[in-house]
Amino acid sequence: AAGCNGAMSVTGDYPHRCPNCLDRPERGPATMTSAAQDHEQQVYPPSPEFVATANAGPELQAAADADRLGFWATQAQRLDWATEWSEVLDWSDAPVAKWFVGGQLNVAYNCVDRHVLAGNGDRVAIHFEGEPGDSRALTYNDLLAEVCKAANTFTDLGLVAGDRVAIYMPMIPEAIVAMLACARLGLTHSVVFAGFSSHALRSRIDDAQAKLVVTVDGQWRRGQAAPLKPAADEAVADAASVQHVLVVKRTGIDVDWTEGRDLWWHETVDKASAEHEAQPFDAEHPLFILYTSGTTGKPKGIIHTSGGYLTQASYTHHYVFDHKPGRDVYWCTADIGWVTGHSYIVYGPLSNGATQVVYEGTPNSPNEHRHFEIIEKYGVSIYYTAPTLIRTFMKWGRDIPDAHDLSSIRLLGSVGEPINPEAWRWFREVIGAGQAPIVDTWWQTETGAIMISPLPGITATKPGSAMAPLPGISAKIVDDNAVPLGAGGNGYLVLDQPWPSMLRGIWGDMDRYKDTYWSRYAEEGWYFAGDGARYDEDGALWVLGRVDDVMNVSGHRISTSEVESALVGHPAVAEAAVVGAADETTGQGIVAFVILREGVTNTGDQLITELRNQVSTEISPIAKPRQISIVPELPKTRSGKIMRRLLRDVAEGRELGDTSTLVDPKVFEAIRAQGK
Ligand code: WT7
Repeated sequence: AAGCNGAMSVTGDYPHRCPNCLDRPERGPATMTSAAQDHEQQVYPPSPEFVATANAGPELQAAADADRLGFWATQAQRLDWATEWSEVLDWSDAPVAKWFVGGQLNVAYNCVDRHVLAGNGDRVAIHFEGEPGDSRALTYNDLLAEVCKAANTFTDLGLVAGDRVAIYMPMIPEAIVAMLACARLGLTHSVVFAGFSSHALRSRIDDAQAKLVVTVDGQWRRGQAAPLKPAADEAVADAASVQHVLVVKRTGIDVDWTEGRDLWWHETVDKASAEHEAQPFDAEHPLFILYTSGTTGKPKGIIHTSGGYLTQASYTHHYVFDHKPGRDVYWCTADIGWVTGHSYIVYGPLSNGATQVVYEGTPNSPNEHRHFEIIEKYGVSIYYTAPTLIRTFMKWGRDIPDAHDLSSIRLLGSVGEPINPEAWRWFREVIGAGQAPIVDTWWQTETGAIMISPLPGITATKPGSAMAPLPGISAKIVDDNAVPLGAGGNGYLVLDQPWPSMLRGIWGDMDRYKDTYWSRYAEEGWYFAGDGARYDEDGALWVLGRVDDVMNVSGHRISTSEVESALVGHPAVAEAAVVGAADETTGQGIVAFVILREGVTNTGDQLITELRNQVSTEISPIAKPRQISIVPELPKTRSGKIMRRLLRDVAEGRELGDTSTLVDPKVFEAIRAQGK
């Protein structure tokens, strides 16, 4: 593609997909052409009308530049604190930060009670839209009652501050209520995406030693009631830590029942008292654990705490989305199983008193009009979604959104992976009526909240660029030797200053925390994000994608080794190598190469189906390889390292790169023959 060297490699071993390549899939020369320069120079300044009412003004950056910690202290004042902090940041035990030292607050009180106390109890907090078409509105008064009832039930079950609760639920209001009830009691929640398998749930329950699991009988998926409790049952069978399973009746399907252990939500929570007084907790009290994929097979339990996390979630939601409480109708299409759901469905918006849409189902149930009908029905004004869905909408065609009145939309957001400029322009043109600003927000499970993004009303945006760190955030692009790069530089993204919503560690494994994020630039004390990035000639920041063995499939983070270990768990497989190959819709698709054990007969499609199912049961259907090739050998360096770069060349149908370090370059002829 013009302007892209195809590889954009920063390490030599990990080629990165350039956002431009998705527009023009053919790979081109390494030099920047004038077409690409035009591409990058195209800017979309904010309209004067938007600027006139924008939450963010130039004083925000000025204040952060003048006194970064003072700036964060001001942002923390967005919240109600029971006890004032004595120090904004204690970094003396780096890389474990303490923010708002000595401060005390209750996160649920900040997300619910204080809006009621301020007289906004009748404001809708959640417009719930179920997949089968049922809908329900919860005001802040309703939410407060529900959260108090759940908190009283959790207390009756013997849970006390510091205990862990696993939440394995679809997108229904009770999931949010359960999270807030945990927050209210100082229980640390671990939400496990309902698309994960029982194996994945079990390992997360064990790792965190969860005492309670909250789940549902089933969830609505594409018009069907899909059972979920059986997976929860399988996961908790002889899980020593689990005392109770609390079950919301969502679909009414039959479920197995373990007396004494299982409880219905409607027989407990619904009958509990709606009075509950929230107690304050320390700013550093652990709010949640959320598991995410890293470079090794075992998912990491990312720990987030209370005061700093809520400060940054609230600050970013207010300014990045230009959110006006009582006026906007906000919709983030993520699932609470991911960090986007935590920060931009639960904690950010609710701390700001938002009115938001929560939708249970898929975008094409019962048909491709669903999201646009919902936007029209509720008058959604802020719509935050992922590039993979935007590209899916593009495939479905603009006639579908064009059939709806989307005029309520005034701001659009994107998250999860680099957005290619073509999708960016389509989003603005078709969904945003050619006017809505787009915020392309870069962040991670680990960062807790948005770090790099345009500020609407301030930033003149470029399609495909996340532009610049937010006020209060500091990032650099550096090379292997920690030399910061300037305009035109292409290297690693690092965060060179601590930030309030930063992770505080990996549950049960502080060494892994230090090693994964802080050892690469230990001397400098920088956080290594795992993404490649570059500055263009104007200094706009472009995130290029992961530089480690982490894939990004439809915005889902999946590690190559996690899929590899699932595959070698199958008795037929001796060895497996997995790569993420560019995919027009999902960003990356999973491609696996496997070697069979001696004596195993290759039954072709039957075996491949079995292997794909193996991954689905071990991890989740979202981790199923798009393609599995059974090959006689894997390409390895003399030191025995699998050369994934070459496998990716094969998977993406490219000419092979440099094979000179391979033990046996001929391996490829055989792989290529199979890989088709
Ligand atoms: C990885 C983090 C942040 C919530 C959803 C994903 C990629 C995320 C962007 C963006 C380019 C992005 C990065 C990052 N990513 N947002 N706007 N532009 N890349 O959270 O599962 O922790 O994944 O997603 O590669 O490291 P996550």
